[in-house]
Amino acid sequence: MNKFAFIDRLIEDIDRASLRRQLVRVDSAQGTVIKTGGSEKALFCSNNYLNIAEDRLVKDAVIKTVNQYGYGSAASRLISGTSTLHVELEKTFANFLNKEAAILLPSGWTANEALLRTLPQKGDIVLIDKLDHASIIDAVRQGQAEFHTYRRDRLDRLEKYLADTRYERKWIVTESVFSMDGDSADIRELVRLKEKYDAILIVDEAHGFGCLGQNGKGLAEQAGVLDAVDIIVVPLGKAVAANGGIVASKQNVIDYLVNRARAFIYTTASSAVNCAAVLAGLEIIRDQPERRKRLHANTIYLRQKLQQMGLDTGPGSTHIVPVIIGQTRDALRVSKELFERGYFVSAIRPPTVPEGTARLRISLQSNHTTEQIDGLIKSLQGVL
Ligand SMILES: Cc1ncc(COP(=O)(O)O)c(C=O)c1O
Repeated sequence: MNKFAFIDRLIEDIDRASLRRQLVRVDSAQGTVIKTGGSEKALFCSNNYLNIAEDRLVKDAVIKTVNQYGYGSAASRLISGTSTLHVELEKTFANFLNKEAAILLPSGWTANEALLRTLPQKGDIVLIDKLDHASIIDAVRQGQAEFHTYRRDRLDRLEKYLADTRYERKWIVTESVFSMDGDSADIRELVRLKEKYDAILIVDEAHGFGCLGQNGKGLAEQAGVLDAVDIIVVPLGKAVAANGGIVASKQNVIDYLVNRARAFIYTTASSAVNCAAVLAGLEIIRDQPERRKRLHANTIYLRQKLQQMGLDTGPGSTHIVPVIIGQTRDALRVSKELFERGYFVSAIRPPTVPEGTARLRISLQSNHTTEQIDGLIKSLQGVL
């Protein structure tokens, strides 16, 4: 008897709803163009926003470090897995974000898990944006505190929860730039509310870090409220183009996570080589603001063109540009036809986005040329 026949049926259900996901194999480095299945595609769906993934500085740092440290860390951080580079990286991030301390976790997912499963206590309330990332949702579900979602266009509802005096502590958790919509949190208003109600504000800068703010520190820097954010999370797989997740805050917050966060304690430390890549990426972010400027110029250019075509790109203004199509089947068709024409733009479907809002998620890079963007637009005109 096939014990896994039930899985075939579950997969058939996924197929029927046009929700089957497929892996696309990439045979080259990440850049504005990739090789896949024997042909080249212009890449418009990666989070390598500043083209750090393929940068010479990063490659050199990695080669040097692998020669010095080897690759594997071979232990968790609290056993023998903490290298000089982990310590340097954490200090560097704490300084850069103007926080007392920082800690590195193996991914952005585990950073949110460590933070949100560990810090909020029974008797607290955690308020998360309805469209916060799955790592935030899953973490608060597993934590001890009560949690509720709020809509960012209805902050009056958030305020109702904040005004409720039954809770010991109140936490607000938001992404800075929303990964599937490309719009931004009203971070100044969140700061105002958290100050009014003495709440704790956590901002996940996954898609803002490196790209926004004069020094690339993210949306909080751009909005002039960096110091008012109590805890900053920086997933390092996006603009920094490496792996890991930083949590930066007060020293005692970090000390407590080191002692109690299961996602930190019971996992192998990321390699020193990865730390070297992160440090090199951060150096580029700090020293090469022109990459942010080019990304910004590309964003304005693409958004204007899409709007001239009458397409729905949502309310955002960032380098993540959604083109809302509606039905899953249609979004998949458009994505497939773009791929055949040489443009790799993934379709995002429910449950990642709400039903009826399947979309293309175009993400820009600073090295995209006007010709590449024009080519994408022309192909979109051809397939829509
Ligand atoms: C807002 C946000 N937070 C956290 C994560 C998870 O980060 P990582 O990919 O490093 O696990 C992501 C990744 O998609 C994200 O978009």
